[in-house]
Amino acid sequence: MTQGLTICRARLADVKAIWAIEKLSFPSPWSRWAFLTELGNPLSHTLVAGPPSPQPWKPWGYIIFWLVAGEMHILNLAVHPHHRRRGIARRLLTEALSLARTLGAQEAWLEVRPSNTPALTLYESFGFEEVGRRPQYYTDTEEDALLLVFAWEEEE
Ligand SMILES: CC(C)(COP(=O)(O)OP(=O)(O)OC[C@H]1O[C@@H](n2cnc3c(N)ncnc32)[C@H](O)[C@@H]1OP(=O)(O)O)[C@@H](O)C(=O)NCCC(=O)NCCS
Repeated sequence: MTQGLTICRARLADVKAIWAIEKLSFPSPWSRWAFLTELGNPLSHTLVAGPPSPQPWKPWGYIIFWLVAGEMHILNLAVHPHHRRRGIARRLLTEALSLARTLGAQEAWLEVRPSNTPALTLYESFGFEEVGRRPQYYTDTEEDALLLVFAWEEEE
C-alpha cells in the first residue's frame, strides 16, 4: 500500500503542511512555532512522508522524536485524514525506529491517550508495551497518558 512513498527529513518548507495535518489530527494542536523549534533542535528529528517524485511534494504525515542518552522519545506522529489506513504511519515509525537505532537508541518511549485506539493498535503491533500511566497528563481533557516503551533486542 505504501509503495512509492517518499520518507525524508523535514525541511522548513514542510512546516506549513505539517501544521495543517497537526490541526486536523489533535484536539490541542502544537503551534506552528513548536514545529519550527523542533527543526532547529539538534536533539530532535522530524521525518515526513509524502508522494514519490515526480509528483509535486507535499507531506502526508510526519513523526518527531528526540534522541537523548540512548533513549528515543517519540513526541508526535500524525497522518493527514485523507491518507490514513494506507500504512503511512507504519512506514514512518519503521523509518524513525531504524534511524534512532542507527544513532544509538536502546529504548523508545512515548505517551498515548488510552482512548486512542488507532495509535495504541499501531504501537502494540510494533512491540511497544505499557509500563506506566501518567495521571491527568493531557490538560485539555484531563485524560491520563499511557507510557509505552519499546526495547530493541540485545545484539550478539
Ligand atoms: C494513529 C495514526 C498516526 C495512524 O496513521 P495511519 O497512517 O492511518 O496508520 P497505518 O495505516 O500505518 O496503520 C498501521 C496500523 O495501525 C493500526 N491502526 C491504524 N488506524 C487504525 C484505526 N482507525 N483503528 C484501529 N487500528 C488502526 C492498525 O494496526 C494498522 O495496521 P493495519 O492497517 O494493517 O490494520 C493516525 O490515525 C493519526 O494521525 N491519528 C491522529 C493523530 C494521533 O493520534 N497520533 C498518535 C498520537 S500518540
